[in-house]
Amino acid sequence: MRIAVIGGGGREHAIAWKIKQSPLCDELFCLPGNAGTAEIATNIDISAEDLDGVVKFCRENSIDLVAVGPENPLADGIVDRLSEAGIKAFGPSKKAAQLEASKSFTKNFLKKYNIPTAEYETFTDFNEAKAYIERKGAPIVVKADGLAAGKGVTVAKTKEEAIGALEAIFIEKRFGEAGNRVVIEEFLEGEEASFLVFSDGENILPMIAAQDHKPVYNNDEGPNTGGMGSYAPAPIVDEALKQYIIDNIMKRTIDGMKKEWAPYKGVLYAGLMIKDKKPYVLEFNCRFGDPETQAILPLLQTDIVQIMLATIEGNLNQYSLKWKEGYAVGVVLASGGYPAKYEKGKPIKGLDKVKDLEDVIVFHAGTKLKDGEVITNGGRVLNIVGMDKEFKTAQEKAYNAIKYIHFDKMHYRTDIGNKAYRHL
Ligand code: AMP
Ligand code: GLY
Repeated sequence: MRIAVIGGGGREHAIAWKIKQSPLCDELFCLPGNAGTAEIATNIDISAEDLDGVVKFCRENSIDLVAVGPENPLADGIVDRLSEAGIKAFGPSKKAAQLEASKSFTKNFLKKYNIPTAEYETFTDFNEAKAYIERKGAPIVVKADGLAAGKGVTVAKTKEEAIGALEAIFIEKRFGEAGNRVVIEEFLEGEEASFLVFSDGENILPMIAAQDHKPVYNNDEGPNTGGMGSYAPAPIVDEALKQYIIDNIMKRTIDGMKKEWAPYKGVLYAGLMIKDKKPYVLEFNCRFGDPETQAILPLLQTDIVQIMLATIEGNLNQYSLKWKEGYAVGVVLASGGYPAKYEKGKPIKGLDKVKDLEDVIVFHAGTKLKDGEVITNGGRVLNIVGMDKEFKTAQEKAYNAIKYIHFDKMHYRTDIGNKAYRHL
């Protein structure tokens, strides 16, 4: 098959890496890809958000299967567009992608289908929202309704901070259209986990649980990022909790979406807060997580192309997922200044030294090739993944490999995976 991966981050490198291992894959393209995907696929300089460009390329190049990485093209209807053109596309329809693209849709949906989540109210008026915050007090969580590149959520410790977030959304219009509506919800205290499943609209196949590390500094301090590292399987999700999540969250969601005439196909990602051993949905994402995927896919033994085809064709019930024993720990190396302003174009040294290390995989994110040299091209630059049967050794393998790699102003967290020890 001729397969195309849409996107150019660490998640997409991991998806492409896994697809490349399938005997069903004859030729692989990445749109636009990065310096890492260039080693295993043909990069095509078309942005993931250029829907016309993507559809045209896939049509003209007889692409048989498209795997979509990021949320924006999904929310814009890329899967609908490709399907109309007769091309198999892995991911939810525009309608089903609302589970990520509209927080108010999702909160109403969760309530309707009795799926555990934080208490909330939705507002379109600044004064009404403000009065609600005055009444409820802090801590409280303020969320812009639409897609805001992970920046639309404020966990406010004081009423003033919450009202400041409202002003940014309603008055400064910081998130544009995404901020015509806000969800204000109860603050939940606990530990987070990411739970992803494949779904064909009816059946699900759960993946191993993962944990992300969103704040930029150790001990979860500093501003939120896209994710500074991840590991899988996350032992906070034990067998009993896993079954509870499957029955009370994932299956109910897939059944509910079918009833709403928006059958959900692709990867459904639940961002969960685990409080007193019970899970609550903080958010859904309509795609693989970044950086969770970089820790999950290295442990997947099953052919991912077969699974992607089964989700599209609706026969996922004929398959199961096999996982390697052990753990994967992935650490993100970021550009100086990230998640705020940072420079690009820094040469990356040492990649050749980690290439042949055992049980280490380097997934590229913000990188590109310039005159044969790999340079930085984004905030999150590389994901260094270590794997082992023992959690501690997997973590050590990742951090040992990092010692070989350098670029100007590189920074990373040194505690990725430490929370796992609470549960091991
Ligand atoms: P979201 O994009 O909705 O997942 O929110 C981003 C982050 O904000 C989450 O990963 C949590 O760390 C935090 N968060 C969101 N909602 C809540 C909540 N109700 N209680 C506590 N923290 C939350
Ligand atoms: N890891 C968070 C996300 O993919 O949205």
